[in-house]
Amino acid sequence: MAQVTAPKGTQDILPKDSGRWQRVEAIIRELCAQYGFKEIRTPVFEHTEVFVRGVGETTDVVTKEMYTFEDKGGRSVTLRPEGTAGIVRAFVENGLFNEALPAKLYYMIQCFRYEKPQKGRLREFHQFGIELFGAADPIADATVISMPYRLFKRVGLGGISLQINSIGCRECRARYREALIAYFEKDRERLCPTCQERLEKNPMRILDCKSEICRRVAEQAPLITDYLCPDCDAHFSAVKKYLDVMGIAYQVNPRIVRGLDYYNRTVFEFISDQIGAQGTVCGGGRYDGMTEQFGGGPQPGIGFAMGMERFMLVLEQAGVELPAERDCDLFLIPLGERAVQEAVRLTALLTESGSRVQYDLMARSVKAQMKYADRIGAACTAVLGDSELEEGAVVVKNMADGRQEKVALDALSSKWLEGFCK
Ligand code: HAM
Repeated sequence: MAQVTAPKGTQDILPKDSGRWQRVEAIIRELCAQYGFKEIRTPVFEHTEVFVRGVGETTDVVTKEMYTFEDKGGRSVTLRPEGTAGIVRAFVENGLFNEALPAKLYYMIQCFRYEKPQKGRLREFHQFGIELFGAADPIADATVISMPYRLFKRVGLGGISLQINSIGCRECRARYREALIAYFEKDRERLCPTCQERLEKNPMRILDCKSEICRRVAEQAPLITDYLCPDCDAHFSAVKKYLDVMGIAYQVNPRIVRGLDYYNRTVFEFISDQIGAQGTVCGGGRYDGMTEQFGGGPQPGIGFAMGMERFMLVLEQAGVELPAERDCDLFLIPLGERAVQEAVRLTALLTESGSRVQYDLMARSVKAQMKYADRIGAACTAVLGDSELEEGAVVVKNMADGRQEKVALDALSSKWLEGFCK
């Protein structure tokens, strides 16, 4: 039968790599705990409405990239293309605004976007993200921005630049919108069909169109930073001040508008120049009042999401090694039925007390078992035959340095292994 392959733009994370993912995830979870963030898990699919309202009707994500389908009950549902909209929905629906504020939430999720796959861009990908509700103060912005910064620092990663911008409030953007329409109107014919439509509906979206020609037309477009009202300007200055106090370097890039509609005021991206065109490892910003779009009262919100595949690529590129746990402390090689039973008994005892102990499951020769122990990276091996059973002692071999030590079977404990396997 013909082989069946994985869908385009998806990838398998194989056992040889999943340990690395888990180590990175453990560091992230610890960082979130230090900042007081708790995990939220929301459905992989939502009513399509959640993303249309949340992410915005004129965004690339909603117009071109969603995996939307009708379920058997005739409802339109969509695989989440991002985490924020569903979390805002959950925040409102579950009344989290009644609990201690700010609500500090984090997530590690799979997302789905029908995009053209390339390095660092997939159709199924993973995000680590955080969302913070209830705090409008610029110190919240700087604190949220400091999290990816700390993460990169913790894993010893350099070469990632932070770019920040403010896209103001509704009033700032209304004035900016007029300026953009006047600017793009001159070149209307050159814009791609989608952007010609966007010109009336949402001209800011033209600024993040992926088409080469639209990008060229947009080069001299007016900058949002010239249209900020005094309040938004002061907010942005305070965010920068706090980042300075935290010792976090950044560049103000007035061209960062982000590709989703819910943002206002602070937006930011962490960008690596090490992994090619898809260098934005992390992006986020403020989305005050988005709760109202889901029938809730107005609440400020701010967050970010990090593309995990991109983050893993950057780590790999930079040669960052994260200390791996040992997969197997002891591989037992029993000879004969009696020894197999003893191996099973010993393994149960040692596993109970926390060791990682394995034995052969394929009735292989001693030589083949040794080879297997080596391939799985067992720290120690021990051959258990009739003479060992009679003597009540076994010789344990340290695979790394070849040291051997005889130990009584009833003295073979997790503590002993820990000392010997080092
Ligand atoms: P986003 O910029 O659309 O923002 O995505 C965040 C990150 O997800 C990107 O910077 C990138 O690293 C990764 N990413 C996006 N699309 C793909 C893809 N097709 N393949 C691989 N990685 C990808 C959001 O999703 C917002 N929800 C972030 C946010 C949270 N803003 C406030 N709170």
